[in-house]
Amino acid sequence: QAQPRPLAAKPRDEPDPDDGRQRVVIFFGTQTGTAEGFAKALAEEAKARYDRAVFKVVDLDDYAAEDEEYEEKLKKENIALFFLATYGDGEPTDNAARFYKWLSEGNGRGEWLSNLRFGVFGLGNRQYEHFNKIGKMVDQLLAEQGGKRIVPVGLGDDDQCIEDDFNAWKELLWPELDKLLRQEDDSSAAATPYTAAIPEYIVVFVKPEDATNINKSFSLSNGHAVYDIQHPCRANVAVRRELHTPASDRSCIHLEFDISGTGLKYETGDHVGVYAENCIEIVEEAEKLLGYSPDTLFSIYADQEDGTPLCGGSLPPPFPSPCTVRTALTRYADLLNSPKKSALLALATHASDPKEAERLRHLASPAGKKEYSQWIVTSQRSLLEVMSEFPSAKPPLGVFFAAISPRLQPRYYSISSSPRMAPTRIHVTCALVYGPTPTGRIHKGVCSTWMKHSTPLEESQECSWAPIFVRQSNFKLPADPNVPIVMIGPGTGLAPFRGFLQERLALKEAGVELGRAILFFGCRNQKMDFIYEDELNNFVDTGALSELIVAFSREGPTKEYVQHKMAQKAAELWSIISQGGYIYVCGDAKGMARDVHRTLHTIIQEQGSLDNSKTESYVKSLQTEGRYLRDVW
Ligand code: 2AM
Repeated sequence: QAQPRPLAAKPRDEPDPDDGRQRVVIFFGTQTGTAEGFAKALAEEAKARYDRAVFKVVDLDDYAAEDEEYEEKLKKENIALFFLATYGDGEPTDNAARFYKWLSEGNGRGEWLSNLRFGVFGLGNRQYEHFNKIGKMVDQLLAEQGGKRIVPVGLGDDDQCIEDDFNAWKELLWPELDKLLRQEDDSSAAATPYTAAIPEYIVVFVKPEDATNINKSFSLSNGHAVYDIQHPCRANVAVRRELHTPASDRSCIHLEFDISGTGLKYETGDHVGVYAENCIEIVEEAEKLLGYSPDTLFSIYADQEDGTPLCGGSLPPPFPSPCTVRTALTRYADLLNSPKKSALLALATHASDPKEAERLRHLASPAGKKEYSQWIVTSQRSLLEVMSEFPSAKPPLGVFFAAISPRLQPRYYSISSSPRMAPTRIHVTCALVYGPTPTGRIHKGVCSTWMKHSTPLEESQECSWAPIFVRQSNFKLPADPNVPIVMIGPGTGLAPFRGFLQERLALKEAGVELGRAILFFGCRNQKMDFIYEDELNNFVDTGALSELIVAFSREGPTKEYVQHKMAQKAAELWSIISQGGYIYVCGDAKGMARDVHRTLHTIIQEQGSLDNSKTESYVKSLQTEGRYLRDVW
C-alpha cells in the first residue's frame, strides 16, 4: 500500500507572458462553484485551441485589493470573459459583490473601457423574477463604459440544463476568439475537436496506524480570526424543538447553535451558512454503489507530488484528509441532486458493461438531450438513483469526488434571533424538506433532515454539531428605531422578523422609543403551523410589535394570504410608506414575494393616485433608498 505523503507547497502563480502572447482573463462570480467550474473548463478548452494566448482564471474578489485598482487593471486587459451567477433577489454572489457595486457606480467615468473586448455568461434560474440580473447588468454596464461585446450575453438556466446553455454560448464565442487569437494561416487547433479530460484527484489509501491527524480538521475554533465559507466554525446544537403541532403533516424545526467561546459574531438579519451531513441511509447506499467499505481510509490531493496542479489547476482544493470513505461521503458529497452531463460521461468511462456505458454517453450527448431532460431533470433523479440504474459503473474515489459528485454545499438560513437577546446563540427556523419525487423516491432535504434528527446538548453531552459561518446581509432594521416598519413573512419567512422583534424588545427594555411595527404572518391553520404564536403575542403585549395580522390559508372556505390582509390595510400601509417607513418581505421568492410585490404596487398606485409608470418609479426609489428590503429564496 502506498504511504501518505506530505502536502506539496502551493504552486506559484503563472507569470504573465512576455513573449507577445495575448492575455485573456476569465473572471468568475460563484456561490456554489458552478460558475467557477465553467470558467476553468473554458480556460482548459481555450488553452487547447489557442497557443498564441494565455488564459487566466480569476476570482473577482482576488482581482483587486482596492476598488481603484479595478479601473487601472481592467484598462490594461484586452479580452475578458465573465461567468456571473445571480442569487436570491437578483443579487451578485458574495465574491462578485464588491466588483458589481463598483461597476454599477461607474456612470460618468466615460468610455474608459474602449480597449476591452468582453463576453458575459450569466448563471441563474428562470423560475426567479430577476433571472440572470447580474449577468445582464454587467454585460450592459461594460458596454456602456466603452467595452466591445464579442458575444451576446449567455443566459444559463439552472432550471433546465445549464451545461447545454454554456455549450451553446461557447459555440458563439469560439468564432469570435478565432478572429482575435488566431492568424489566417493557423488552422491546427480547429481541425482537432477538443474533448475535455475527465478530472480526477489523486487518492492514496492509508493504513489506520499511519493516519495521525484524522478528525482534527474541525477543532472547536478553527484558528482563523474570521470565520467564512472556507473557514467555518464548529458549533454545537444546544436546542432543537418542533414548531408544528402533531396535527400538522409537515415539520418545522427551531434549532439553536451554541456559539459561546467561538468568537463567532452576528447581527440581527444576517444569514447563517450550515454544512450539514448526509443521512446514514444515503451514505450507506453510496458506499454500496461505489463498492467501498465505510472505514477505508484515504488521503486526497489536487496536485502531484512535485506540486504541479492536476488538470491545469482546475480542480477545487480537496476536503481535509486522511479520512474514511464514511466521513467523505457523509460530509462532502452531494448525492441527492441530479447528476450533470459531465458526471454521466465520467460514470460511462468506468462502466464495465458496454451497454451501460453507451446509454450514459447517449444521455450526455446532444442526441440524448430530450431524454436527459425528462429522465433526469423532470424526474428529479438523484445521483444515487442514476448510479443504481448503472450498477456496472464503479468509479474510483478520485474520479467520484472530482467529476461525479459535486461538493456538498452549505445551506443558508435567515437567523431568527437577535444578538441583543441571544448573544451566544444563533437560532434557525427551518421547514423540513420532505416529499415524493416523480420516480416515487422520497426526497429528504439534506440540511433540514439533519436538523430534524440532530441531538441537542439539552438531551445529550454527545450532541450534534455542524461547521457554520455567518453571512452578512443588508436586511437590517432602520438605524432610527422610531421609523415605522411593516414586516411581511409567512411560514419560515417569519425567521428574521423574530430577530427584529427580539431586537426591538431589547431596545424597548433599554428605554428606547420605538416607531410603529406591523407584522403580516401567514400559515395554514392556527392549530397546526402558527409557529412562535406565544412569542408573537408576547411581542404585542410588551409593545415590541404594534400589530400582528395573521392570514390562515386553510381554515375558511377560501384561501387567505398575507397579501389579501395587506390589501385590507391599504390606507394604513400607504400612510406608513409615505411617512418614510420601511417595508420588509421575507420568504418564498417564486410565489409569495412576487404576489406581495404586485399587491404593494397596487396599494401605492391606488392610494397615491399614481399612474402605472409613476408607481414603478416610486417602488424603484423605495428599493434604492433601502426602504423596501427583501430576503427571499
Ligand atoms: P398554502 O400552503 O395553503 O397555499 C406559509 O407557507 C403560508 O404561505 C401558507 O399558509 C401558504 O399557503 C402561504 N402561501 C402559499 N403561496 C403563497 C403566495 N403565493 N402568497 C402568499 N402566501 C402564500
